[in-house]
Amino acid sequence: MKMKKIMKKEKVAVIGLGYVGLPLAVQASLKGYEVYGLDNDKQKIKKIKKNQSPIQEKFLIKNIHQAKIKATCRSSVLKKADIILICVPTPVDKNFYPDLKPVRKAVETITHHLNSKNKPLIVIESTINPGVSEEVVEPIFREAGYKVGRDYELSHCPERINPGDSRWNVTNINRVVGSFTKRGLQKTLNFYKDIIDAEIYPMKSIREAEAVKIIENSFRDINIAFVNELAKSFDKLNIDIVDVIQGASTKPFAFMPHWPSCGVGGHCIPVDPYYLIERAKQAGFNHKFLKTAREINNSMPEYTVELMQNSLNEIKKPLNGTKIGILGLSYKANVDDLRETPAFKIIDLLKKQKAKVLTFDPYFPQLSDVKNLKELLRKSEAILLVTDHKEFKSIEAKDFQRYKIKVIIDGKNCLNKEEIKRKKIIYKGIGH
Ligand SMILES: NC(=O)c1ccc[n+]([C@@H]2O[C@H](COP(=O)([O-])OP(=O)(O)OC[C@H]3O[C@@H](n4cnc5c(N)ncnc54)[C@H](O)[C@@H]3O)[C@@H](O)[C@H]2O)c1
Repeated sequence: MKMKKIMKKEKVAVIGLGYVGLPLAVQASLKGYEVYGLDNDKQKIKKIKKNQSPIQEKFLIKNIHQAKIKATCRSSVLKKADIILICVPTPVDKNFYPDLKPVRKAVETITHHLNSKNKPLIVIESTINPGVSEEVVEPIFREAGYKVGRDYELSHCPERINPGDSRWNVTNINRVVGSFTKRGLQKTLNFYKDIIDAEIYPMKSIREAEAVKIIENSFRDINIAFVNELAKSFDKLNIDIVDVIQGASTKPFAFMPHWPSCGVGGHCIPVDPYYLIERAKQAGFNHKFLKTAREINNSMPEYTVELMQNSLNEIKKPLNGTKIGILGLSYKANVDDLRETPAFKIIDLLKKQKAKVLTFDPYFPQLSDVKNLKELLRKSEAILLVTDHKEFKSIEAKDFQRYKIKVIIDGKNCLNKEEIKRKKIIYKGIGH
């Protein structure tokens, strides 16, 4: 009888074990790869070593126990890797300029340990603007004496993960891939086809792969800005934007619903458009549309505070001295992620007007001013909902009434407006 030959899989190193890198490391390990996880956050490494997830993410909580990730802060492990995945942050600074320092640092670290005999495949998963692989990453390798195609392969496979999403996760989201060489492209396609049960789509160039990710998130930013602007306009026209979007959604083609809110957060949508805006500016193009979208979305916390002020004025109360309970700190529902959250901007604005602010987020007990939801309701006169966590969506109008809440600003349009109004509580959503 012929024995089936078992192919030994390559060794994979993941740099940056966050929302992107850790699920990827877990998935590669579950698919039989030997996986090294490199991060400079010692606390994170400690947790991962104990098979605990530092992130409250379903896929990780379910699978991290079965994965065998060799987590470490020591970059020398990169010597052993055949495939290196870069998953470090790509933030913007306080003036919204792209900050590529973490990517540069990760690439420099690789050059110190690159085993060119092995011709490793290096894949950037972090979101980068068109041109970064060719203009920033490849030159770092070149200066260190390494030639792409000869000593290593370089590809980009932008991550599309959506934390908190129960349907789409690292295992089943289609991907696009771009590379410097045909061989690099093939190697990258082989790897991702092996670990992901979805389409892996080859792009003609690495620059195009970079552009794919940036336009996906800019598309979201622009569409959200559009409905946020409509929310403000329809407020004046006395039209409910939520009802209108629901109506428009009955069109079976060429309409895609997006929803207004008190602000856009997270590490992607409010960040990535700036990467394109800046790179295009250097090339002599002014992205008016993207800039306007960013401006509108950045204005939503202020608008939300205005709604609170106007609603309190209806009952002859000022913001000054009113006890306002904030429901939620994280930027989106059911995740423990504060990056770019509108919550802090809203809190700052309220405090500037001398409102007495109390916060509660079940995902951040250490940052909450009260122990639980009941305490928040008991101590508040008005409520401002920032995050549509499941714990908040299920609050009933009679609970608000029991605690004598007078005003509710629903920053995610997720509470039962009709019921709340029936209880004679002032309710205002975003355009709703
Ligand atoms: N979070 C998302 O939903 C999401 C989705 C798609 C794409 N992305 C993109 O993926 C990239 C990573 O995002 P994230 O959310 O996983 O970030 P994150 O902050 O959750 O994780 C990044 C990790 O990298 C580590 N790190 C930073 N520099 C390092 C270095 N030089 N060496 C070793 N470790 C280092 C940090 O300690 C951190 O643990 C970003 O470019 C982001 O835009 C994020």
